[in-house]
Parts: sequence; C-alpha cells; structure tokens
Amino acid sequence: MLLEASLLLSSFHAVSAALRADGSPAQQPLVDALPSINVTFTPIFNATATLPAILGISLSLSSPNLPANASLVELSLAFGNVPCQAYNETNPLLAADDHGVLDLKITDDEEHNLRRWLTSRPTSGAVNLSMTALPRKVDITTPIGARVDLHELNGGLLGSAFSMVPLPAPRLNTPHDVTFCWDLSRSPPNTSFASSLGEDLCTEITDKPQAIQALQSSIFAVGTTIHRYPPASQSPEMSQFGLFYFGNATDIPFSVVKLADYIQALFINMCGFFDDSDTRPYRVFLRPSLRGFGGAGFLSSFMLEYFPSVKVEQWELEWLLAHEISHNWPLMDSTPGQTSGADNTWYNEGIATYYQIFLPYRFGKTTRAGFLQQLNMNLQAYYTNPVVKMSNEEAAERMWQNPAAQRLPYHRGLIYFLRMDYLVRQASDGNLGIDSPVLQLLERKRKGEAFDLDTWNLLAGEATGNATRARDEYSDVAAGGFLGLPPQTLSHIGLSVIATTQERLELGFDTASLNSRVISGVVPGSRAEEAGVRDGDAIVETRVMYWQVADDISRNMSLRLEREGVEFDVSYWPRSREKVPGLQSVETGTVHREDL
Ligand SMILES: *[C@@H]1O[C@H](CO)[C@@H](O)[C@H](O)[C@H]1NC(C)=O
Ligand SMILES: *[C@@H]1O[C@H](CO)[C@@H](O)[C@H](O)[C@H]1NC(C)=O
Ligand SMILES: *[C@@H]1O[C@H](CO)[C@@H](O)[C@H](O)[C@H]1NC(C)=O
Ligand SMILES: *[C@@H]1O[C@H](CO)[C@@H](O)[C@H](O)[C@H]1NC(C)=O
Ligand SMILES: *[C@@H]1O[C@H](CO)[C@@H](O)[C@H](O)[C@H]1NC(C)=O
Ligand SMILES: *[C@@H]1O[C@H](CO)[C@@H](O)[C@H](O)[C@H]1NC(C)=O
Ligand SMILES: *[C@@H]1O[C@H](CO)[C@@H](O)[C@H](O)[C@H]1NC(C)=O
Ligand SMILES: *[C@@H]1O[C@H](CO)[C@@H](O)[C@H](O)[C@H]1NC(C)=O
Ligand SMILES: *[C@@H]1O[C@H](CO)[C@@H](O)[C@H](O)[C@H]1NC(C)=O
Ligand SMILES: [Zn+2]
Repeated sequence: MLLEASLLLSSFHAVSAALRADGSPAQQPLVDALPSINVTFTPIFNATATLPAILGISLSLSSPNLPANASLVELSLAFGNVPCQAYNETNPLLAADDHGVLDLKITDDEEHNLRRWLTSRPTSGAVNLSMTALPRKVDITTPIGARVDLHELNGGLLGSAFSMVPLPAPRLNTPHDVTFCWDLSRSPPNTSFASSLGEDLCTEITDKPQAIQALQSSIFAVGTTIHRYPPASQSPEMSQFGLFYFGNATDIPFSVVKLADYIQALFINMCGFFDDSDTRPYRVFLRPSLRGFGGAGFLSSFMLEYFPSVKVEQWELEWLLAHEISHNWPLMDSTPGQTSGADNTWYNEGIATYYQIFLPYRFGKTTRAGFLQQLNMNLQAYYTNPVVKMSNEEAAERMWQNPAAQRLPYHRGLIYFLRMDYLVRQASDGNLGIDSPVLQLLERKRKGEAFDLDTWNLLAGEATGNATRARDEYSDVAAGGFLGLPPQTLSHIGLSVIATTQERLELGFDTASLNSRVISGVVPGSRAEEAGVRDGDAIVETRVMYWQVADDISRNMSLRLEREGVEFDVSYWPRSREKVPGLQSVETGTVHREDL
C-alpha cells in the first residue's frame, strides 16, 4: 500500500508465470531452441572488511549473435529515487565469449531510465557476464523509496533482480528459457535462501514469453539467519505460503505468526475469487528499515519493510497485506511509451484498495463494523487529501517528493471503482458489479491480450452500457476532477452515502522535511506549530508514518525532534482548522434523508 513501488506493477506484473521448481530443462522437441539465459547468484560472505556480504552474479546468454555497438544488456538506472547497481568502471560488468574478453561500453539513456552495455565487436557464440552487486548503504537520511534495492541484513542479503541483474531488452513476447540457480560454494553450510521464484537451488521459469519480466520482478534472500514461517517441512499446503525474515522474531514489532496465518488464509480465498488455479506459492519477505513502513509487490510475493519505532496495529498490517495480495491479480498494463505510471497507477492502486476492503469482508475475515470503518477511513483519505484535485500526471511526477500525491491514486481509484460499480449495477438490474469488467480485463491479461487503459475503457463502456460515460469517468479521474458518490452507491450492501465535512490532512510543515530531516515551512497557526514544531528543528525519529495519519483521521502525528542539542517529543493532530466537504457511509436506516 504505502510508498510501495506502484511502478513495479506496470513494468512487472504483466507476468503470469508458472515456475518449474526442479530446475530440469523442460521436455521440448528439438526444434529451434529458444534463446536461453542462465543466471547464477553466488553470495560471498565476509569478503571485504566493510561489507558482511556481497553478491556475485553471473549470466550466460546463448549465442546472441550481435553486431558491434549493439546493446547486449540493460539495467534501469534507478527506480524513482532508489538507485540500481551502477556496474561502472569502479565495479565493472565483465563479459567474455568464444573470442575471449568482450569489451563493453556503457551508455546511459536518461529518457528511458536505462544504462546499456554496448558490444565493442561482433559477438561469437555464448556470452558470459559477471559482476558483483553491492548492498546499498542506507542511513536515516536515505529517503523512503521503492523497496527494490539490495540490502544487507544480519549478514545476509535481500533485494530484487530489477535493481541488480542487467538483462537483454525484453521484446514483446519473445520467449526465453530462463534458469536461475544459487551457487553456495562460497557460503557457510548453515546458509539458507528463498526467492519469489522458489525455494530450490535451481528454478526454470516456465512462462517463456514473460520469463525476463518474471526474473526482474523477483526478490532474492540469502543468509545464515533466515527463518521461514510456516516451516517448509510442516505440510505441503503450508509450503504454498511462506513468510521470511532475518534474525530474531522478537526484534520484529508485530506477531509474525499471527500475520502469516491471516495472509495465508486470505491468499487462498483470493485465489478462489480470481479463479487462480496456479499453484505458485505466495511469499512475503520482511526487512527492517531506519525510517519506512510499507512495502512493494513483486512476482507472487511482497516485501514488507518495517521500522521498529513506528507503532503499527495488527489491523493496519492486515489491511496492508490484503492490499498487496490483491495486486497479484487485477492489473492494468501501462500504455506503450508511458513510464511515469500516470496512466495506470490509479487503476492498479485503486482496485487493490477496493478489494483490500471488500474481499476480506466477503470472505468473512472482517466484521461488518471493521469493514465499514475501513471503508470510511479510505473515503475520508480521499476527501481530506490536500492535493485532491491534482491530475494523475502531476501526482505520478511528484509521488516520491510528496506523500499526499503518492497516496492520491489509491483513494481516487477507490472512489472511481465505487462509482463504476454503481453504474454497472444500474445497467444490469443489480446483477453485475465492478467485478465483471475487472475480471474481464484480468482474463485478457491471462490470454496474453492487451490489458491497457484503452481495453479497460472499452470493457467499462460495455459493462455500464454507455461508452461515452465510461470514458468521461476516466477523463475526470485523470484530470483530477473532484469525485462524488450518489447516496445509493452502496445500497446493495445496506449502506447509505452521506455528505459530511472533515478536517483536511495538514502535516503543518513542508512534507520535504520528512526526507531532509530538518523541519521547514511550518504553517503559522497550525496544530504542528501549536505543538511546538519550529523551522530548523531536526527530525530524530518519525514515530507515525504519513500514510497512517492520512488513512486514519483519528491518529496523531508523533515525532522526536532536536533543537539546540535537546531532544523532545511532539504529538499533534495533523489536520486543518477548517473542514472540507466529504462523504461517509452509514448503515441504511440510521439516518433520515432530511438529515443530509
Ligand atoms: C562473518 O564474520 C562475522 C565476524 O567474524 C561472523 O560473526 C559471521 O558469522 C561471519 N559470517 C559468515 C556467514 O561466515
Ligand atoms: C543453461 O543451462 C542449461 C541447463 O544446464 C544448458 O542446457 C544451457 O546450455 C545453458 N545456457 C547457457 C546460455 O549457458
Ligand atoms: C553506437 O550506438 C549508439 C546508440 O545506440 C549511437 O549513438 C552511436 O552513434 C553508435 N556508434 C557507432 C560507432 O556506430
Ligand atoms: C560508480 O558508481 C558508484 C555508485 O553509483 C559511484 O559512487 C561512483 O562514483 C561511480 N564511479 C564512476 C567512475 O563513475
Ligand atoms: C560461460 O560459462 C559457462 C558456464 O559457467 C562455461 O561452461 C563456458 O565455458 C563459459 N564460456 C565462456 C566463453 O567463457
Ligand atoms: C553459520 O556458520 C558460520 C560459519 O560456520 C558461523 O560463523 C555462524 O555463527 C553460523 N550462523 C548461525 C546463525 O548459526
Ligand atoms: C531472541 O531474542 C530473545 C530476547 O531478546 C532471546 O531470549 C532469544 O534467545 C533469542 N533467540 C535466538 C534464537 O537468538
Ligand atoms: C451516456 O452518458 C453521457 C454522459 O457521459 C450522456 O450525455 C448520455 O446521454 C448517455 N447516453 C445514454 C444512452 O444514456
Ligand atoms: C493528539 O494531539 C492533540 C493536539 O493536536 C492533543 O490534544 C491530543 O491529546 C493528542 N492525542 C493523543 C492521543 O496523543
Ligand atoms: Zn498497492
């Protein structure tokens, strides 16, 4: 949910991979062999004085037969504000083929956010590449960003292939044989490992057309203190789900077991809802952070980053994970050429927020009161968002600088889906709802057909019986139009939508201060100022995340600050003095129309 890498969705989740876990080559007739890529990770522990662990990466590419000056492999320069491995002169990527050393030239394509390695001469036969991925140095000033980077944890390593494995440019539906293996020859015997791809030493990706994307969207964990819950040995069903953490569970500020049990049950229910017969397990990887609390979705997996000083309730975690698991299915592809996510983030985050609320309720995993509370928290989060009228384009541009912009697509998307659900119900005499076009889009994705914005608008037009209206609805969303909900929107579940006014979210100082760690732009007269926050105060610790106060109107902001060498705590309600119009839902019958 939070500060998660929603762009991952556009670039990665166009993947419907099934994985073979035994590593044996698929039995295929001996016709034109597919281009193959073998990837090996060799963790090296205690190799340098300063780094407890580094990751050797080697790739073998079957005869790429490239001319001189062609792009052999490419790697993103960054993901938002998170740098990927540089593999520059300081720590180079080395290549060799049948003719020996193959010199490579680096070119950066800033426009497409890619570093490319170009051949210095024609290649001959298979090309081998080797490089060393180094864990990123992070400290309290490292801004929160997408959880794709390689981190050192308890002497082990955790990170995504996206940030560290250069690969041939994935061409649309060009099938590849991709095999991934761990090489533990330089690891102590007590080393364990797991990845989004599986828990075997070697895994072959069986979804050939999407194999490169599947690899990129995978997380890898290796170390001597990795724990799995439930233990893989427990039973075959248990191995359909796994939660992995490094070190001692007592250092984690929530119950790993309770959370894992909840997610596992929810995952199984959701597989049923989305008609997913795939037997791929779902895996959650935990890592501590110095600041952030949030996560990122990957291939059949999720990285949850927690911060021991931030107090998080069990229900908040459950909602976050329900959201992330939802990302496994309903997805909109990005429009070709669109890299900002402006065109599809609203859909991907909006529908995950919608199902995060509605599915646990439908499955009986949330009480009605809990469901209503969650729905209302998300409604208020939209109406009280300080940048509620920002366009999708601008929100995408500013997501890593402005957490309010980052949150907007989640709640705006939710309101859109509630509106569309109502329209579909009206058009179908209550027989169908938003599930219908959403599942149709998913079906197209599964069949390898287009599942982008144009396709969605088409399906939404059919489901609502008015193509013009469906397109207008989207245009409103994209332009940052203020979205309302008819009072009857939720009547099919016995709820009425009522008008209300609530206090706008107001941190009371520049949100950029959360990254710079020095307060600036304190709003005169704000509750932050009243609580004693002043320009120039250093932020020692953030005890509540921005998204927590955004989503829960009752929550206070809580910070530890330092001024002239003295540390002190402040807690205040980060809301404006004036109220803004919004909507809430109530049990039908608890209000009379006249009250509105
Ligand atoms: C690395 O060295 C440290 C300190 O000597 C030791 O505690 C740790 O177990 C070593 N790690 C491995 C994987 O051997
Ligand atoms: C990858 O590994 C498979 C199985 O070991 C092998 O058949 C294939 O030739 C390898 N491909 C490359 C490019 O090394
Ligand atoms: C090599 O390719 C790059 C871009 O792919 C191009 O800008 C450059 O002119 C090419 N150089 C030669 C010598 O062909
Ligand atoms: C190589 O990349 C690292 C990490 O991004 C950077 O610190 C270093 O300055 C770069 N070196 C060169 C020669 O570009
Ligand atoms: C590439 O690596 C494979 C497997 O590691 C090895 O068998 C082969 O000889 C290497 N080829 C070259 C050209 O280095
Ligand atoms: C794993 O083995 C290494 C080297 O044998 C040892 O230093 C380390 O303490 C062991 N770690 C654990 C968690 O047992
Ligand atoms: C985990 O930490 C607790 C309390 O800090 C300690 O009692 C326990 O022995 C530790 N467990 C392991 C396996 O290190
Ligand atoms: C379709 O919706 C538009 C508004 O977006 C409206 O003007 C038009 O009358 C609707 N058409 C039908 C057939 O309901
Ligand atoms: C929240 O902050 C307000 C001031 O803005 C304060 O009056 C209230 O006591 C705080 N609540 C808690 C639970 O700390
Ligand atoms: Zn999300």
